[in-house]
Amino acid sequence: MKLLEIQELGTSFRTGRDTVKAIDGVSFAVGEGERVALVGESGCGKSVTMQSILRLYDERKLVHYSGKIYYKGKDLLSLPQKDMQHIRGKEIAMVFQDALSALDPIFTIEDQITESIKLHQGLSGRAAQEAAADMLQLAGISDPYRRLGQYPFELSGGMRQRVMIAISLSCRPNLLIADEPTSALDVTIQAQIMELIMDLNRKLNMAVILITHDLAIVAETCTWALVMYLGQIVEEAPVKDLFSAPQHPYTLALIRSIPKITGERPKRLYAIEGMVPLLNNIPAGCRFAPRCPLTEERCRQENPLLISIPKENDRRHKSRCWRAGEL
Ligand SMILES: Nc1ncnc2c1ncn2[C@@H]1O[C@H](COP(=O)(O)OP(=O)(O)O)[C@@H](O)[C@H]1O
Ligand SMILES: [Mg+2]
Repeated sequence: MKLLEIQELGTSFRTGRDTVKAIDGVSFAVGEGERVALVGESGCGKSVTMQSILRLYDERKLVHYSGKIYYKGKDLLSLPQKDMQHIRGKEIAMVFQDALSALDPIFTIEDQITESIKLHQGLSGRAAQEAAADMLQLAGISDPYRRLGQYPFELSGGMRQRVMIAISLSCRPNLLIADEPTSALDVTIQAQIMELIMDLNRKLNMAVILITHDLAIVAETCTWALVMYLGQIVEEAPVKDLFSAPQHPYTLALIRSIPKITGERPKRLYAIEGMVPLLNNIPAGCRFAPRCPLTEERCRQENPLLISIPKENDRRHKSRCWRAGEL
């Protein structure tokens, strides 16, 4: 049994009179201690997929889910909300890009870490403080007792992200979802934070789903990759195969747009022609067809399924492209 197994996930939002389907038939699995990357341009549905796993949207009016999200064999989509509170934080933790807004400006770092420790570990007073200092240490923060007394504004961006990671680790999650955790940070700090996350993955055998639009980071850190386009997975493969033999024109375009000079931030991340279409204007046929250099007639007619590549030996390498194998 996989730690997390998602089957045909669909997430729809009601916006005014319309309903848009942001996620459409997404399936993937994450094993214990595994490191999986989810990549794709901005607006492809990466965050919505992750927020759906934790059921963070307002279910009374806004959102409708379909499919299954098995976590340790239990379908999260059929749990009562009160059981989801136990899953969030205790089993599955999430860190976001924006660590500054995630921390409360009027409380000290100690207040914010011990809140979680008290809740999840049942510690209080001195013991909670010591546990908080331990978590900071684990997150690579030196002089943790001094940091505990500080407020978020007194810390740098990288330090705040470490604090967020410390908070999310304080309940010993089995799965960490890191949603573009380093996008707001400069390159050197980015590398340190990624190193920290991967170090924790090894030390704690904590599975990680890393969301990023930076393929260079994926190559260095993850073993399995999912490529998402307009609410669907278009390719999945072991990371090394994804880079050595991509089987979808979208993946190829993403790889080609990795900046060559390391350490320099590109002005525009991707040089793929055109933009991701809006959800109320999803193309008939292959969703990538309007932007794809290889488009032929059938691509505009019918959306291909995500299937194993016939020429590959590894049956796990899948692509959603009529012309996969010609690339
Ligand atoms: N709460 C929402 N209501 C309606 N549409 C949304 C909502 N959240 C996200 N979307 C739409 O879903 C799509 C995927 O967004 P998102 O998952 O945030 O992309 P990304 O891959 O950049 O994380 C986008 O078209 C976005 O506009
Ligand atoms: Mg996002």
